Amino acid sequence: MIHIISKKSIYAIIILIAFTSTVIYLYNSPKTLPVFESSPVEEELYFPAFNVNVKNGDKVVALTFDDGPSREYTTLILDYLKEKKIVATFFVLGVNLKYNDDILIDMVKNGCEIGNHSINHKQFKYLKNNEIKRQINYVDNYVRDVTGFTIRAIRTPYGEYNERIRKLLVNRPIVLWNIDSEDWKKKDALKIAESVCDNVENGSIILLHDIFDYSYEATILIVEELLFRGYKFVTVSQLLELEDECTNGLVFRSK
Ligand code: NI
Repeated sequence: MIHIISKKSIYAIIILIAFTSTVIYLYNSPKTLPVFESSPVEEELYFPAFNVNVKNGDKVVALTFDDGPSREYTTLILDYLKEKKIVATFFVLGVNLKYNDDILIDMVKNGCEIGNHSINHKQFKYLKNNEIKRQINYVDNYVRDVTGFTIRAIRTPYGEYNERIRKLLVNRPIVLWNIDSEDWKKKDALKIAESVCDNVENGSIILLHDIFDYSYEATILIVEELLFRGYKFVTVSQLLELEDECTNGLVFRSK
């Protein structure tokens, strides 16, 4: 009799534990599971993963690629940068991140910087504050979860900003460009490369897009020419540091 009771008690305890655990689990589960809610980070690591060695008197330039990553062209560009042992900055779109985690990791491994270009390239001036924050947070969190590195630089879609947007993105540098390759308009590698190389100077930030074949081909021509002219390639955050810019909420165009 005692034996039977104790067996029943054990069953009762097991059922009770299972029931309690389920209740606790359901109670703590969020109603909708956000895919990339801010995850706690023990130690914040900021881009870039490493700095290029720059000496006094070196001429520097920052290549930047917007609107990717793309499986077709970002991978080609990364392979080329790797071969030349140079770095660049990629301002990525949230809509292109899914299924491209390996590309993001490859960027970090090669010392490239990742910047935030919003989720889907909407004009911020027409968005409410909460939506702008969501656009930025999504890309920030996705990239941090995949790479372990925290994004600093933001490039607003179309480079548009106003006082409201600047205040909202306070403590983050808005990094624009001063050489627009107009690759999407020219659609010709040689023309793109010529216009960039004609205008480049020490401290330039060059805007290209890693989503077109002609931009990839132009990148090769630009890099070959600028290496020949003795330029060193740095990421935008390193350029900001070199130029001793205060990065808090400043709009940065370089020279
Ligand atoms: Ni863009």
